[in-house]
Amino acid sequence: MKISVIVPTYNERENLEELFERIDKSLKNYEYEIVVVDDDSPDRTWEFAQRLSERYSVKVIRRSDEKGLSSAVIRGFEEAEGDVFVVMDADLQHPPEVIPELLKAIEDGADIAIASRYVPGGGVKNWYWYRRLISKGAIAIGRLALPKIRNVKDPVSGFFALKREVVEGVQLNPVGFKILMEVLIKGNYGKVAEVPFTFGLRKAGESKLGGKTMLNYIRHVYRLMRWEGELDRLIKFTLVGLSGVFVNEGFLWAFVNFLGWDKILANIPATELAILNNFTWNDLWTFRDLKRRPLWKRLTSFHIAALTGAVVQWALYAGLVYMGLYYLVANLIGIALSFIVRFLVNRHVTWG
Ligand code: GDD
Ligand code: MN
Repeated sequence: MKISVIVPTYNERENLEELFERIDKSLKNYEYEIVVVDDDSPDRTWEFAQRLSERYSVKVIRRSDEKGLSSAVIRGFEEAEGDVFVVMDADLQHPPEVIPELLKAIEDGADIAIASRYVPGGGVKNWYWYRRLISKGAIAIGRLALPKIRNVKDPVSGFFALKREVVEGVQLNPVGFKILMEVLIKGNYGKVAEVPFTFGLRKAGESKLGGKTMLNYIRHVYRLMRWEGELDRLIKFTLVGLSGVFVNEGFLWAFVNFLGWDKILANIPATELAILNNFTWNDLWTFRDLKRRPLWKRLTSFHIAALTGAVVQWALYAGLVYMGLYYLVANLIGIALSFIVRFLVNRHVTWG
């Protein structure tokens, strides 16, 4: 089994020597190559890497036509000769000593092994609480929006190992900024393992991923949702919800006008009929491929989602109005959040 360690670099000259030294020590029991993909760094990282190739097994790719972390990693996949690929940063925030543990997980049957900050034993060094919060929030959004990765604790880690087959022949989008997430959605694999590690401090130089990162991430999640067909579900769920409004209004009108029922009480059966309408269409259309639970469970869970949504809507409305927000705006926010909650509960539980 040959290992290819893929290292994207941009102005990492000062980190390379220690990085290679520690990789070499960690992989002394393996046949390996290091594939450096450098984007023509002004500090001439590529040149220094080339020089170090006299001492270590290094292949240097100097790109001048293209830029970007994800596309660099994808290029690395194309150039790598190993049976197992390891992807890691050059700045030593990813300790090379963890690589053997990743390889162990692969040898034990995993197709992808992630060095994870968010499994027991893992962590981050010197992050303020709000950085942790943003990181965890971003991951939560990704896991909720993409049910396929909902069990992965750190799907945005930049440190992982995978079998060559996972990405061979797979069209990966380099615009996608979190390459691991791209691989987890589009790759060919069965088992994923997570190995704890502590995301350390940068040795030298500075981070290149700042400012626009969060917005880019949301765009990436959105694109992957589209690719997965999750966006289609969201649209269908919305259309079904709209049809429910007509059912609710129609029956309410009929009960009051033709049957002379009390206006307040008549809305209870009218609402229930709308819920049943929505359930039926979602079951036959939106989630038709996901009927894994028995019908009575799906029906119960759908009602719980509806009730939860109503409570969220009302609580948010009451809270925001109390805080002084204009009531119609407060209601819109309540409706929007209730919608998201209902979609997620149904996607992950009812048809989970
Ligand atoms: N070739 C190339 N081109 N390499 C790049 C580029 C680029 O445009 N931008 C960054 N790199 C290289 C850096 O030189 C470094 O080796 C690695 O990619 C990570 O870049 P950093 O700038 O150190 O990223 P970070 O520490 O902010 O983010 C890391 O942690 C995140 C999790 O919090 C990365 O590993 C992310 O992938 C990860 O999601
Ligand atoms: Mn870094």
